[in-house]
Amino acid sequence: MAVILDGKKLRDKIFLDLKTKLDNLPQKPTLAVILAGDEPASAIYVRNKKKTAENLGINSVVINYPSGVSQNELLAKIEELNNDNSITAILVQLPLPEHIDKFKIIDSILPEKDVDGLTPYNLGKLFAGEEPYVYPCTPKGILLLLDEYKINVEGKHVVVIGRSNLVGKPVAQMLLNRNATVTMCHSHTKNLSEITKTADIVISAVGKNVIGEKMLKSGCIIIDVGIFKDENGKVRGDVNFEEASKIAAYISPVPGGVGPMTIASLMLNTVELFTPGTPVSAAALQIRKD
Ligand code: GUN
Repeated sequence: MAVILDGKKLRDKIFLDLKTKLDNLPQKPTLAVILAGDEPASAIYVRNKKKTAENLGINSVVINYPSGVSQNELLAKIEELNNDNSITAILVQLPLPEHIDKFKIIDSILPEKDVDGLTPYNLGKLFAGEEPYVYPCTPKGILLLLDEYKINVEGKHVVVIGRSNLVGKPVAQMLLNRNATVTMCHSHTKNLSEITKTADIVISAVGKNVIGEKMLKSGCIIIDVGIFKDENGKVRGDVNFEEASKIAAYISPVPGGVGPMTIASLMLNTVELFTPGTPVSAAALQIRKD
């Protein structure tokens, strides 16, 4: 049976440490979250972010907009937040309503307040092998989870399924920086299972039940980023957990794996932006040495 990569346990450990750090800061960071539209999942995520921040001693403000909000209204708000010294971190919850150009919105966030690490400046730094202000939350959470279980990725074949800017592309780059051999797969990939069968580590960020036992190598490591409700309303990941946990060496569950690590990383990033030069989570920042 596979070892469970317990994201909740690590999140709690990170929060304990962060709380002490925050208690000792004379001033507190303030995280501003913009939520546009009425996507129920997004509303839950944002509520959770606010509650978590406040429990740790991070100030937070949520700015809600109806789904009909104009792009200019959002751009004006971000400009206001960029110029407001009391705001130290900005997050625009994704997805945005369809008529909004998400790239224009993300590009307008000051890189030093970009708590998601998604602006072209921060992603560009990451892709150049330099240090961004912060790393994107879910990829950072995945690396912290691997580190916690002493899983070294150097020379390992990592297959990443999904090529989003939020998860797939940055996690692949971060693993490349740690000298993994990375294969990117996506919706147009042919013979997915032929590729996943050669993986030492599978990272799946699809949002559909796509990975079964037959697609995996015995002893592999599985990171399941997917989260959705199945036809019975049960929360599931991309991986068939019952099957995969029989043959994998390690597996992250859904819920309780990557999800808690994403929020832990968001809180770490909020503090890192507030106290530049003293990364709280140095483990995620390892850069390759050729
Ligand atoms: N939507 C789903 N995950 C995320 C995330 O990590 N950041 C933002 N901004 N939106 C999301």
